Amino acid sequence: MQPKFSRTLVTAALPYANGPIHLGHLAGAYLPADIYVRYLRLKGEDVIFICGSDEHGVPITITADKEGVTPQQIVDRYHAMNKDSFEKFGMSFDNYSRTSLPIHHQTGQEFFLEFYRQKILVEKSEKQLYCETDRMFLADRYVEGTCPVCGNLEARGDQCEKCGTWLEQTQLINPKCKICGSTPIVRETKHWYFPLGRFQKRLEEYVNSKKWKENVRSYVDSWLKEGLEDRAVTRDLHWGIPVPLQGYENKVLYVWFEAVLGYISSIRELSQRKGEPDLWKKYWQDDATRYIAFIGKDNIVFHTLIFPAMLMAWNDGGKSHYILPDAVPANEFLNFEGKKFSKSRGWGIDLKDFIDVFPDEGRDALRYALAVNLPESRDSDFYWKDFQARVNNELADTLGNFVNRTLQFIQRYYDGKVPPISPDKGRDPDLRRDKTGDLDKWVLDQMDMAPKKVGRLFDDFKFRDGVVEAMSLARSANKYFNDSEPWRTRKENPDRCATTINICAQLTRSLAVLLSPVIPFASDEIWKMLGLEGSASRVKWDSAAEMKIEAGKQIGELKILFSKIEDFVIEEQIRKTASAEVPAETAPKAATAPIKPQISVDDFRKVDLRVGKVLTCEKVPKSEKLLRLEVQVGDEKRQIVAGISKHYKPEDLVGKNIIVVANLAPAKLMGVESNGMLLAASTEDGKLTVVTTAADIDSGSIVK
Ligand code: 2FM
Ligand code: ZN
Repeated sequence: MQPKFSRTLVTAALPYANGPIHLGHLAGAYLPADIYVRYLRLKGEDVIFICGSDEHGVPITITADKEGVTPQQIVDRYHAMNKDSFEKFGMSFDNYSRTSLPIHHQTGQEFFLEFYRQKILVEKSEKQLYCETDRMFLADRYVEGTCPVCGNLEARGDQCEKCGTWLEQTQLINPKCKICGSTPIVRETKHWYFPLGRFQKRLEEYVNSKKWKENVRSYVDSWLKEGLEDRAVTRDLHWGIPVPLQGYENKVLYVWFEAVLGYISSIRELSQRKGEPDLWKKYWQDDATRYIAFIGKDNIVFHTLIFPAMLMAWNDGGKSHYILPDAVPANEFLNFEGKKFSKSRGWGIDLKDFIDVFPDEGRDALRYALAVNLPESRDSDFYWKDFQARVNNELADTLGNFVNRTLQFIQRYYDGKVPPISPDKGRDPDLRRDKTGDLDKWVLDQMDMAPKKVGRLFDDFKFRDGVVEAMSLARSANKYFNDSEPWRTRKENPDRCATTINICAQLTRSLAVLLSPVIPFASDEIWKMLGLEGSASRVKWDSAAEMKIEAGKQIGELKILFSKIEDFVIEEQIRKTASAEVPAETAPKAATAPIKPQISVDDFRKVDLRVGKVLTCEKVPKSEKLLRLEVQVGDEKRQIVAGISKHYKPEDLVGKNIIVVANLAPAKLMGVESNGMLLAASTEDGKLTVVTTAADIDSGSIVK
């Protein structure tokens, strides 16, 4: 089937220039995007691959404040660092731009002004916290206070991280400015809002007209079901794109609004650099272009709903017409040695540090180990031991071994020239139509099918399976070498031996092509060793099925593709990992929270505590923190929502007897009603344990 489109635009989430890229980022979006683009290029498609640094937003100004430098210095540092690490890792972006460039400010302002001109933006007055000392409105992360729902003393202005509740900053009890510690005042401020709700129906139609990965679709459906609300597009901050309206001098465009437009500015920048200022329109404003946006799961709503709505709104203005994402193949999260990557706790490993420890072939080793373990449908884990096993057993023992023994055989016994396929007794001259069911046919059939099989999986964004499939050809190739016993036939049946080795050389080329989207550096090494011109990344994908190497071809210099990683090297990394996280015992002890003012016995008696038995328990969709429990309290079944998902798996709680505050007024957490609260003991540094009772007490029993 001929594709309906003439070219493909691929974007990868613009990483915040606020810290280094780590392995979790790579597995979430960047590696799958790069594999896909490299595959499309091999297929001969017109494809452009765009990324860049996201250089605005509050986290950047907070990092700058902490370090006592300017936000510009922060973004300069991390833009350079991330660009460099990406290059070393083999990310093949056509452009890696920055949202602090004038061209991006221009794009952001154009979109804002267009929506303003169309009169679709709504101006609202709202109450915000303002610090009189620092003379600024406190954006959410600049303010901290007590959570009105769970009492956490360090809730942020937008969300309480302990119980997961989304908050308005004015709901915080006893708020404090995070810069100077003083108590902010409440002040009116005006902001413009984008009417996302108005696009609900069109977005539903759009979503229904596309094919989504299952994990993506379930997020999208739950956002749509909840109903889309207006979103503020301006912010009281100094760092960002200035709002281009009089009276708005101290405000900037909200980073969610402008960052996605960075994909447009990045191609505009590239077009200008190439001296073809309109080139970007071919990729953004032509229905013959297909747009694929690679992101991690935390960005799904922006790319499936918000950005499409913005593009629809622009298109409504009639000035020009942007295409919408055709697919958003977002991945789930990669964890590190069983826990979430955490910059603040030093848990995980940055790409830069990884490359320092494992330079050269380590880059492909990492690409491969991540590719076969991508969190495509659920979270997955990076373990050092697993990395070592992948490299040693698969890259060194399977792929490297096959390539090496084949080429060494040619070197040693054929004077470095690929031997010819020799006419065997009873053999059809076309090896593929051999009816004898011999080994040659067995392995050549696999080679023949491989580009189609792997390609189909890549087309469906199943990179993990695609890479496993490509690697299975290397496994078959090894088996073919073993079972054909060329070391024996060399003396007993030289023609047979020559045929075997010729086929092995063809398989070597085929593997270089099929694996080049994943391990581009090693594929080019194989290419050179085969004595081929150019690069394994610059041939036709389908040629991996063909016997392209001519008899007599002089091979090149041989070298080891992948060396095994020794135990001590991995143990050193495991040791570093373990010491990176401050163990709870040696961590500076958080001060015990101050005891609250006294209450009377009567006050306490107002609280009706009961034993409840947990009947069912599940995660609340879209929430990292919340679990929804169904609890039997005496004769009654209750739904309770608790912010304990980081500490308990749902199945850990089922069957347990817990203590429930039974007469607490109902509350909604992330749209789910909670009828009561469970008791849990927690420390300031985030440890938490649910209070349980012995199993032999009836549910509904009074606790006093
Ligand atoms: O999650 C992030 O790193 C964001 N900076 C991604 C933004 S993607 C797009 F909006 F640019
Ligand atoms: Zn302050």
